[in-house]
Amino acid sequence: MTAIGIHDLELATAHHVVDLTGLAESKSIDPAKYVLGLGQTEMSVPAPDEDIVTMGAAAALPILERNGTEGIRTLLFATESGVDQSKAAGVSAHALLNLPSSVRVVEFKQACYAGTAALQSAIGIVSRNPGERVLIIASDVARYDLDSAAEPTQGAGAVAMLVAADPALVEIEPLNGIATADVDDFWRPNDSSTAIVDGALSVSAYLDALTGAWNDLAERGGPGIDEIDRILYHQPFTKMAKKAQQRLAEVTGAQLSTALSENEASVGRETGLEMGSRYNRRLGNSYTASLYAALAALLDHDKGLAGNRLGFFSYGSGSVSEFFTGIVQPGYDERRDAARAARMLDGRAPLEIADYRELHGAEYPSAADLETSRVTASPFRFAGIRNRARRYERS
Ligand code: COA
Repeated sequence: MTAIGIHDLELATAHHVVDLTGLAESKSIDPAKYVLGLGQTEMSVPAPDEDIVTMGAAAALPILERNGTEGIRTLLFATESGVDQSKAAGVSAHALLNLPSSVRVVEFKQACYAGTAALQSAIGIVSRNPGERVLIIASDVARYDLDSAAEPTQGAGAVAMLVAADPALVEIEPLNGIATADVDDFWRPNDSSTAIVDGALSVSAYLDALTGAWNDLAERGGPGIDEIDRILYHQPFTKMAKKAQQRLAEVTGAQLSTALSENEASVGRETGLEMGSRYNRRLGNSYTASLYAALAALLDHDKGLAGNRLGFFSYGSGSVSEFFTGIVQPGYDERRDAARAARMLDGRAPLEIADYRELHGAEYPSAADLETSRVTASPFRFAGIRNRARRYERS
């Protein structure tokens, strides 16, 4: 059988950053609650001329520069912060990226799970025709109400992936475990720009979904926990990955390290929890991109992974979840550049809390024409709204 998986992977984020210690202090909350209790140090915040399209295109651009467009006939855009009810955000990204007209584009939605739905669909397309390659963009802006419990778990980020036969980074294995349940833990009604979340329920629903997906994988003859070298989790906040690791240890009876920082003592088998959290703790929640930002962080920092099996747990509130596995390919480390992600994260423009709050409150109703101010340093920008349609341009 042809090996199919992730051939290339790239991360992008928004222009601004909010320091969570400053955010906590502005509310007279102990910063340790955010930094240790949630495992988050920063959150990315888009400038007025950025959105999921500009971040997604920025993530995809270096992939196209490295790999060209040959064989790409599909662009799958995964998001839960869609900017239109009808048009796929990927069509705007397609134009910004100058992709050929022979590339079909569609948007995938199921909360934070949609990136994984896109990945599995891409694998299906490439299985049918191994000469094709599929570009995936998973891009999201996590927005909750100011002063809500969820506020420090906002964030923004995008991951682009090229799915191909004989992949250079990770071959995705065919078996997976799935758990779907109708639960109102998190949703965003059509008339709201912020998500509605029952925080405690979302945490328990996530953990129950992990149990269900793992059990389904085991019943289908998937690998045992001892055959999985590293485990990556969807990270709405990085402490969630620690809770997930504790749950997986309980369910499997394995001794797995739950150390989420380099200062924490590691008891049990090391599975990459800390390394896999390095980007997410600085991006904040990037919804569909979060699991794949964890993959980027692991591949960038863990140098001895060739031949190792990775476990992936993808969770999308509402809820659909999946546990699947992949094998890291030889030579993956020569293709990764940890310095690029570090430059991107370090290069964000810090926002004072008052400015962040003002930016958060800015709404762009489509009824009025709008020209956005020129702020972003990204190669692409959201230029504004004309005749109720969003306009994008190269910066
Ligand atoms: N020092 C260190 N840790 C502290 C602390 C302090 N001073 N004060 C609180 N904490 C810890 C708490 O013990 C808790 O840790 P635990 O979960 O391991 O027990 C953590 O910080 C969060 O505190 P809590 O009071 O539970 O937070 P909260 O009610 O403010 O809400 C969320 C936390 C995650 C529920 C909320 O941010 C949210 O709704 N986020 C969005 C939803 C989401 O991301 N869900 C995830 C599944 S998809």
